[in-house]
Amino acid sequence: MSKYTEEEIVQSVPQKGFFGHPRGLMTLFFTEFWERFSYYGMRAILLYYMYTSVKDGGLGIDNGTAKSVLAIYGSLVYMSGIIGGWLADRILGKQKSIFYGGILIMFGHIVLALPMGATALFVSMALIIIGTGLLKPNASSVVGDMYSPQDMRRDSGFSLFYMGINLGAFISPLIVGALSTSYNYHVGFGTAAVGMFIGLIVYWVTAKKNLALAGLEPQNPLSATEKKAYTKYFTIGAIVLLVLGFISIKFGWLTINSFIMLVSLLGIVIPTIYFIVMYRSPKTDKVEQSRLLAYIPLFITAVVFWAIYEQSSTTLAEYADKRTNLDIFGFTINPAWFQSLPALFVITLAPLFALLWMKLGSRQPSTPKKFAFGLMFAGFSFLIMLVPALTSGPNELVSPIWLTLCFLFAVIGELMLSPVGLSATTKLAPKAFSAQTMSLWFLSNAAAQALNAQIVRFYNPGNEAMYFGILGGIAVLLSLVLLMFSKVVERLMQGVQ
Ligand code: PHE
Repeated sequence: MSKYTEEEIVQSVPQKGFFGHPRGLMTLFFTEFWERFSYYGMRAILLYYMYTSVKDGGLGIDNGTAKSVLAIYGSLVYMSGIIGGWLADRILGKQKSIFYGGILIMFGHIVLALPMGATALFVSMALIIIGTGLLKPNASSVVGDMYSPQDMRRDSGFSLFYMGINLGAFISPLIVGALSTSYNYHVGFGTAAVGMFIGLIVYWVTAKKNLALAGLEPQNPLSATEKKAYTKYFTIGAIVLLVLGFISIKFGWLTINSFIMLVSLLGIVIPTIYFIVMYRSPKTDKVEQSRLLAYIPLFITAVVFWAIYEQSSTTLAEYADKRTNLDIFGFTINPAWFQSLPALFVITLAPLFALLWMKLGSRQPSTPKKFAFGLMFAGFSFLIMLVPALTSGPNELVSPIWLTLCFLFAVIGELMLSPVGLSATTKLAPKAFSAQTMSLWFLSNAAAQALNAQIVRFYNPGNEAMYFGILGGIAVLLSLVLLMFSKVVERLMQGVQ
């Protein structure tokens, strides 16, 4: 176990210095701000880079494949949190993990900044997947480490941190999008690299003093015998993977499509194994088992929610580029700029929701009800797209108001589901697994995008009404089912609010 107690760790962190919060929050706020700046900036132009023809500076990848690859990428970026969490917990400690993660991410963007074609894309993806797995969940988790269990500021600390995420996500598509059209895509990716570089500097200069003992040491370091055993397992695992990879390439099994299929399966299999292991563990008692059962419908709801939400960068990015009238009032909108909208809506609406929950006090909806309403709004965000789909032909351009409304509804849903999601995960996961709850929550998003890799390729402007109608309809129906059973889920939660 860690050398320091929870109390010692909290006391080592300067408890004031950032809007009345521990000074370490400033470090994590800006590190995560710049990390998200780089991620969302890159993501705002990545689909366009992939499907734009080679002669226009893109990679010329077929449209459907490009969307699936992007979804798989998004899935792996959050799935890798399992590895990042494990490395931090057992070997590196969270502070070092965050720093190494940032370095890998920066190199990931640098690789894309160089005009080196599809190979660079895949190398970059690998670096950013591992880097984000090391940085993102550990940064969020150190936020929690800086407050004592009774500290009332914890929730508002997380809200502030969520603002940092969204400020980064808001600004970067504007800048990266503009630079990529004025110059070229590589300049855009280079800007993302510069962003992560600034984040690393902030972290390098301030982490030691501001975070102090929070996340410094691995919480549950490997013992000498475990180290030996794990080295053996990893070596064997790596050899098996290499051999399998080699055989698959040799026999032509490893195609983009089979890889997409493999990750889609992992997206479902990994959370399922997680649940089974937690449920059957001798460390999980009866009450915790009941809470786990309650968590299953919530998790599934979150998966369907994120599946719709995360299409902002695939299906809806294509919609911005191909179906939206970008010339209004003599001004040309950059299609990448739409990617800023969700974050902008989060920043402006989050305070309103905080106020609403405060006003409602004990009369506010229960967690399962909030989840259901969140999903319902995600459904609405797709159903609203039926209006332009049914009133215009596939080759016509529609007003940007439709995408704007779509993102607005999705964010209203996000504000009901996402903030409660993480805290519900923390409260419903068995104590023995509490270190992994951050990864578990990230898995809901990873599973969603793994599912999307199969779904998004079906979208094209010719079948829009069916596409948005079916997916939006499923979401609304599922939300009604959860509403109907919300009392049952509440009971299974055994007192957790
Ligand atoms: N907007 C969120 C973020 O970037 C998306 C997200 C949700 C990511 C849940 C991971 C898990 O942090």
